[in-house]
Amino acid sequence: MSTINVALLGFGTVGQGVCEAIDTHQDRLKEVLGKEVKIKAILIKDPAKQREIDPSIRVTTEYKDILDIPDLHVIFEAIVGEEPSYTYLSKAIKKGIHIITANKAMFAKYGPDLLEKASKNRVSVGFEATTAGGIPVIGTIRQLLKVNEIQSIQGILNGTSNFILSQMRTRELSFATALQESQEKGYAEADPTNDIEGYDAFYKLLILSQTAFGRQPDWKDIRRKGISHLTSEWLQAAESFRLRFKHVGSLERDGSNDIKGEVEPILVHDTHPFYGVENVENAISLKGSLVGRITLLGPGAGKCPTGSAMVEDFLSLIQGKYTISPESTVNREDVQEDSRRQWVLRIRENEEYQSWLTLFTLKDRIQLGGDLYVFVEGRKEDLRSLLQSHEHIQAVSILNEIPLENEVKEGVAVS
Ligand code: NAP
Ligand code: HSE
Repeated sequence: MSTINVALLGFGTVGQGVCEAIDTHQDRLKEVLGKEVKIKAILIKDPAKQREIDPSIRVTTEYKDILDIPDLHVIFEAIVGEEPSYTYLSKAIKKGIHIITANKAMFAKYGPDLLEKASKNRVSVGFEATTAGGIPVIGTIRQLLKVNEIQSIQGILNGTSNFILSQMRTRELSFATALQESQEKGYAEADPTNDIEGYDAFYKLLILSQTAFGRQPDWKDIRRKGISHLTSEWLQAAESFRLRFKHVGSLERDGSNDIKGEVEPILVHDTHPFYGVENVENAISLKGSLVGRITLLGPGAGKCPTGSAMVEDFLSLIQGKYTISPESTVNREDVQEDSRRQWVLRIRENEEYQSWLTLFTLKDRIQLGGDLYVFVEGRKEDLRSLLQSHEHIQAVSILNEIPLENEVKEGVAVS
């Protein structure tokens, strides 16, 4: 039986997950592919680290050793940062080697370029593991795009920040302790600033945009906010309203086919599918033109879920299932702009608020310590000008329940 030869770049949480997945699922891989999968070499950075690696696998710090492997078919890339990953993968593609990456910071920026290079060199690129850990969201979007146009995407895209918020709420842990636990579990990035300040979710949102819409919005147009400013008082106030903080990335195509994106903490009602998404879980809600709303839930980070995503990608890639998504368009009438949304505003004691409150519909209010929390509904533009003129007012938007039934337009026949 012939073999499929692969190499790994990186042997941290994800690299070890891939190695273990190939090792433990060798029989299944043989059954599906009709070939044995052989890990020929692993690239690492620090040769002094102790590692448990099968002695038949070459371990090296020189990328040239990887490229020199005869008949190398696939490279799994699980190292950190834009470089040297981009350069390494460009060289691999040039040599006709397929690539599979988990590196979202690199792929958000260089994904379009790598996909173009791969297409010219007739190789494939797998990037399922860049987004939402073990959830097959990239594969799901590709499947939906066969018929549907994707209109909007919302997701809890960072396992570390979701874990921290859950732990702060349920175990009353401090932010620092919850972050440390997420690092020990292998969820956090090498630099956890990426997780807690929303950069990681931002990169994932760009990759989702590229996959679903065939392009990315201008990076500077995406508002990005992390979770590090949230306090336990905010979490408690939210519980009083039967609301929970979730760090959510959103993408929407408007009537002029522009893509709007945001990454920020949002409050979700207890009726919303994201409300019960806890700890390292991620969730993604996709709205397709025909199918309506689909919500996917699952583990968003860690060794096994990410290893699983990369090996699934490997199977699809070897089976020739990957094509590059074309730029897709959406009809104006498919997009329904809903400009009225809900927010909770935190107002400091003694702040006069009756005058500007008339701009909104007051839904509820609660006093906690010296702060008043008001629950309002209104236009986004009014909220924006309020926040610009009152710097000390803080606002968090609220996600309403997502209708689970299909939102099929009149005139579209379904049976
Ligand atoms: P990690 O545990 O820090 O491991 C990184 C690995 O890359 C280490 O083995 C390190 O080598 C190696 N490495 C770093 N720079 C290198 C270089 N210049 N040349 C050669 N090797 C280098 O990171 P991780 O959590 O596995 O994440 C890897 C990638 O997957 C990142 O891009 C991350 O964003 C992404 N990702 C992570 C997760 C997750 O749950 N952790 C999930 C999805 C995607 P040494 O061992 O010698 O230090
Ligand atoms: N640090 C990332 C997270 C890893 O916590 O979601 C998975 O992409």
